[in-house]
Amino acid sequence: MPVTIKSEREINLMREAGKILSKVHEELAKEVKAGMSSFEIDKICEKIIRGYDCIPSFLGYEGYPGSVCISINDEVVHGLPSKDKIVKDGDIVSLDTGVIWKGYQSDAARTIAIGEISKEAQQLIEVTKQSFFEGIKYAKEGYHLYDISAAIGDYAEKFGYGVVRELVGHGIGTEMHEDPQIPNFRQKKRGMKLQAGMTLAIEPMINMGRPDVVWTDDDWTVVTDDGSLSAHYENTILITKGEPEILSL
Ligand code: MF3
Ligand code: CO
Repeated sequence: MPVTIKSEREINLMREAGKILSKVHEELAKEVKAGMSSFEIDKICEKIIRGYDCIPSFLGYEGYPGSVCISINDEVVHGLPSKDKIVKDGDIVSLDTGVIWKGYQSDAARTIAIGEISKEAQQLIEVTKQSFFEGIKYAKEGYHLYDISAAIGDYAEKFGYGVVRELVGHGIGTEMHEDPQIPNFRQKKRGMKLQAGMTLAIEPMINMGRPDVVWTDDDWTVVTDDGSLSAHYENTILITKGEPEILSL
């Protein structure tokens, strides 16, 4: 599939979708408390999204049963809502969710702390977030796609972290997943040229230990192979001729 360049009308709808999603994340983060199940968190998220007259984009996507992926501690991404998974003090929880607004998608993830967490876990969350900002320094016309990938990966690896290789960011628009795929580590080539009007979901997934991940037998939840903690940070952005616009922040 070719990479789409969005029109001014489409960009405005993507802006609206992104603004709503940023509020969904803010509201959801305030609601999540120790003792809650990930099933409850999912229900709260769905309610918030529908409150904005949006469709939860994850619900039913390739059969996904929830509106948000809730990945706790060593879970990397796609953590399934479950009545048996209870978040507790000291956990780190990645919340990845998306909305559809008037046919346009936005996708974003945050990793939050439940109560008091270790200094090491706090650093992992901060470095994962910063790696996104290091990457988007190159998210503008004049640079190439994998300049973003290299900046993300090189930054995270300086801390000794493992950058997940099997999962990538993506183009986004009327579909949640459009071309191109966006790896979070250095590639041998520079990749395609970036052009104003591209909308991308950039999403580093960073492990405290080794980069290897494993798909568990619930068919969705991806965990670190070595059991180390993992963090995720994602925003939908717009490429322009100047600084990128972060639509979901
Ligand atoms: N947010 C994920 C991504 O960035 C997609 C989640 S898959 C779903 O690609 F099935 F949960 F929707
Ligand atoms: Co995504």
